[in-house]
Amino acid sequence: MSDDIISYTSDKKGIVTSNSTPDDISSDIVSLRPTSFKDYIGQNKTVETFKIAMQAAKMRNEPLEHILLHGPPGLGKTTVAHIIANEMGKDLIVTSGPTLEKGGDLIGILTNLGEGDILFIDEIHRIPKVVEEFLYPAMEDFAVDFIFDKGIHARSHRYRLKQFVLIGATTRVGLLSSPLRDRFGIFRTLDFYSKEQLIVIIKRSAAILNTIISDDGALELAERSRGTPRIANRLLKRVRDYSQVKSHGKVNRQSVQAALKLEGIDVLGLTSLDRNYLKTIIDFYMGGPVGIEAIAATLQEETDTLVDVVEPFLLKIGLVLRTSSGRKASQKAYQHLKLKP
Ligand code: ADE
Repeated sequence: MSDDIISYTSDKKGIVTSNSTPDDISSDIVSLRPTSFKDYIGQNKTVETFKIAMQAAKMRNEPLEHILLHGPPGLGKTTVAHIIANEMGKDLIVTSGPTLEKGGDLIGILTNLGEGDILFIDEIHRIPKVVEEFLYPAMEDFAVDFIFDKGIHARSHRYRLKQFVLIGATTRVGLLSSPLRDRFGIFRTLDFYSKEQLIVIIKRSAAILNTIISDDGALELAERSRGTPRIANRLLKRVRDYSQVKSHGKVNRQSVQAALKLEGIDVLGLTSLDRNYLKTIIDFYMGGPVGIEAIAATLQEETDTLVDVVEPFLLKIGLVLRTSSGRKASQKAYQHLKLKP
């Protein structure tokens, strides 16, 4: 599989076969995404685990074990799957839990997989139960069981699959059933990136985008990227546009600050949704504790969005606390929003 050729086919089930996904194509992240672990920054222990597992599998001439990746959005779960497929020299087939509505959707994909191919299922915690049951024999015995007829006439036929590798990605590992979780040989959680790691990622991306960025510009952007490469790369593009139009194309601290003010991103990288989440706890629920459903209802926002997208970083930097009786705003949250407890 070539690194620089982006080719993909996608059917209505969102299945993509290639080194890229439609999302990549539209946002052109494909050019920023590393294609080998040599260019991949951070997640050092996780990367080491994968390198060892890949080398051992190659030495034994066996496929890799199934891998479960957990972590908030934008930390590189999809990127890791692309890199593994690339480094194993195999095809990557991308789909997601919610698009697999019926058993037949999954069977269609499984029966088309080649030896050692990588099947990537994003949001695997959202796979329907009826579909999940086909995954068990597929993962364990590389087989699917077709059932014909019902009752006493029921007959089953076992169809052999090629030995594929399943990479599942989830933002909510707690929602996975234990039979599914137990069938993964390797389980890793991706962590938020440090400021220093994001600076390296931002400078690498700026070089790919032919954008000159000063050290203080890269630092300012890293500090406002919520520990997340996808956010850093997205903001870099906004800052690049701003700097091109307003400051002769050079990205520096001032242009990052001005561009991100327009985006509503504050010094900690919080968006208006993050700030509204905190203000809801403080203004409506006297700082908490309050249940997530109540916050979601007040904000008229999906609970899943708050749990998956908003809360992980706020918890990480200690602006919100999770207690057995609900969410609480911390002292730091009051200080950041310049509010009195
Ligand atoms: N772009 C997005 N994630 C990255 C990572 N972990 N390393 C390098 N570039 C990236």
